[in-house]
Amino acid sequence: MLIKIENVTKDYHDNELVTPALRGVSFEVKQSEFVAIMGSSGSGKSTLMHIIGFLDQLTSGHYFFDGQDASHFNDQKLADIRNSKVGFIFQAYNLLPRISVLDNVLLPTIYTSNLDKGKIEQRAKELLDKVGLSHRVKHRPNQLSGGEQQRVAVVRALINQPRLILADEPTGNLDSKSGQEVMEVIQDLNEEGHTILMVTHEKYVAECARRIIVLKDGRILSDSQVFNRHIAKDGLEK
Ligand SMILES: Nc1ncnc2c1ncn2[C@@H]1O[C@H](COP(=O)(O)OP(=O)(O)OP(=O)(O)O)[C@@H](O)[C@H]1O
Ligand SMILES: [Mg+2]
Repeated sequence: MLIKIENVTKDYHDNELVTPALRGVSFEVKQSEFVAIMGSSGSGKSTLMHIIGFLDQLTSGHYFFDGQDASHFNDQKLADIRNSKVGFIFQAYNLLPRISVLDNVLLPTIYTSNLDKGKIEQRAKELLDKVGLSHRVKHRPNQLSGGEQQRVAVVRALINQPRLILADEPTGNLDSKSGQEVMEVIQDLNEEGHTILMVTHEKYVAECARRIIVLKDGRILSDSQVFNRHIAKDGLEK
């Protein structure tokens, strides 16, 4: 089991104001699964992704990652595991505008010591080629379309060969064609064995996954397999 979430709660505290964002969530994700997380705005999806991605701490419950109890990791340990084991793809691609596509992709490797620079650059170029961007390596992000920028963000998420890829609305800012291109890349990654957790509001995007978890008010409303799975390559219907 790669991820085991046990009765996890999360309260946000702002002065005296307490907002319960997760109210007891339990589920497991195996290596190589592709899970979509859905639910209305404010249901706790991003909060859950932040906890799973070691960006935030849970309030109570347990989080086991690859057999290790991560619930009480200190900040340094959280930062280490986040850097080496998790790749993030966000709705706003979060690329740095003033540096090249290649340098954006290489950013997560800055903090990983003892890497062969030549090898890692080679890997970045191969990955960019795989998502159809080999002709854009030296461009800056603002010279690319939204879909292209999101594919750069996908490559950046992969550069450290993470065990887990977390995507929070990866198609949220894209038109349907670009969204489809990004979903093709994400589905291919899953076919290669990457474990993927993806938040989306759109049912047809969620149905590219193999399993859908729906959150409501900080709890799991349903957790089901996808039977009529969309293959993004064949087009996504709207
Ligand atoms: N930093 C924060 N401080 C206080 N409350 C927060 C914070 N972040 C989120 N919340 C609250 O926690 C709840 C869950 O938020 P979360 O961002 O996880 O929802 P979401 O399902 O991702 O919503 P959306 O679909 O709009 O992105 C909401 O009520 C939100 O207002
Ligand atoms: Mg959110």
